[in-house]
Amino acid sequence: MSEAVWKKLQGLDKPTLKALFGADPDRLDTFATRIDMGDEESSTGILFDWSKTHLDAAHVAAFEELAEVMNFDGRRAALFDGEIVNTTEGRAAEHTAQRGVGKEESVQLAAENHHRMAAIVEAIHRGAMGEVKHLIHIGIGGSALGPALAIDALAREGALVDVHVVSNIDGCALEQAFAGCDPATTMLAVASKTFTTIETMTNAESALIWLRENGVEDPYGRVVALTAAPEKAIEWGVDETRILPFSESVGGRYSLWSSIGFPVAMALGWPDFAEFLAGAAAMDEHFRDTDGMANLPLRAAFGDQYYTRLRGCQTRGVFAYDERLALLPDYLQQLEMESNGKSVKVDGSPADGPTAPITWGGVGTDAQHAVFQLLHQGTNLVPVDFIASIMPGHDLAFEHHRILLSNCFAQGAALMAGKASEDPARAYPGDRPSATILLDEVTPATFGALVAFHEHRTFANAVLMGINPFDQFGVELGKEIAKQIEQGGTKFDPSTEALLALAGIN
Ligand code: F6P
Repeated sequence: MSEAVWKKLQGLDKPTLKALFGADPDRLDTFATRIDMGDEESSTGILFDWSKTHLDAAHVAAFEELAEVMNFDGRRAALFDGEIVNTTEGRAAEHTAQRGVGKEESVQLAAENHHRMAAIVEAIHRGAMGEVKHLIHIGIGGSALGPALAIDALAREGALVDVHVVSNIDGCALEQAFAGCDPATTMLAVASKTFTTIETMTNAESALIWLRENGVEDPYGRVVALTAAPEKAIEWGVDETRILPFSESVGGRYSLWSSIGFPVAMALGWPDFAEFLAGAAAMDEHFRDTDGMANLPLRAAFGDQYYTRLRGCQTRGVFAYDERLALLPDYLQQLEMESNGKSVKVDGSPADGPTAPITWGGVGTDAQHAVFQLLHQGTNLVPVDFIASIMPGHDLAFEHHRILLSNCFAQGAALMAGKASEDPARAYPGDRPSATILLDEVTPATFGALVAFHEHRTFANAVLMGINPFDQFGVELGKEIAKQIEQGGTKFDPSTEALLALAGIN
């Protein structure tokens, strides 16, 4: 049935952006929507402007039909009801329960875990582990990207603890963290859903050695474990009282809200972490309760599907015009590419078109002086998201922010308008799409909503394509081969053998 809708979508006229604005004077009212969060006293919000995309009434109607055919309402209800939506692994996907939205028992369990986490965070702030000035957070993928992003976004100033997030097995990463920490006042957070990931466990061992060699008598006493496998953390040597568990049904790349967010709470303090969860919950409720194209993550997914499947776009760009959100593209790369970079549908049959585009991006205005040439004049059509905040994050002259935002909005306008020239090298084709996400300010609440928006957008895309966004078997083969190399005795292809010999690895 979805083939018929795709056929219809393929047959629709594709007016230019200029024509769309010309034909519909209310286009902005239809495609730019604000969502508010917080209470009346401290209300704040985010504007989602999708008006500079090629979505029009006909496409929206057809995409709404696609959503119906793909049982969007049913799959969304299953997500929030804690049903087994990750069918290949037989699991629910209950990240929203961490924010208080979902199946009652799961919400309750998440609240209990948060309660314990808050108590531990506050006790450490009060000195329960002695003086703690530094925290080395060791994790990788979903156990590192979220904390790194959130801390960079929200705790650049006035952090209660100096947090270093270390993910790479390359010892240079850990050494850099050591260089910035005093062992006597450093604690470790070992973050791993499975507590088996080789990079994390190897880095954690080395961090313990560093503490011991630098005069800490009981390095294990400085460790907090953040995991869905507490028994493995105990086996490894962490005292039960310092294990912060989370549920197996929270996926790695969706785990920032669980105890994986411990370093964020350590840096910000619990009240701000709670606000971050509340901001995400506001987006959860919007996503759960809003139908059709008024649903912002679903609307964004309509745009994503339009560009990927109807216009052949193989990538999507994300440019944060805010230094605090510089790590957002990295975070979204895992969220979107690990979730939707698949070739089969939920039932195992081949996907019926391209799936996740390559997510890439950077920070504005830097990227303007580096890669925007291709956005404006290259042969690849790249749909772009611009993300910015009305309030600056610094105390310098407002001129900085004025120039920053002027440039952000100028890029969207220029991509759309283009510019004719008799000299082909100087001509801009225009009609290039962008969406703008404009935060009132970067606060724990707006930031939480922004991240939750992208989680739901990723899920909505998966539903429209009929794929399971919650497994990631594609990462396994490389891990298996690395293990075979470690163990020795396996013969590989001549190129790999030669590289191993050159590096003296076997
Ligand atoms: O290898 C991919 C992956 O499983 C990610 O999905 C996950 O976020 C990351 O590794 C880390 O896993 P863990 O938290 O179990 O150490």
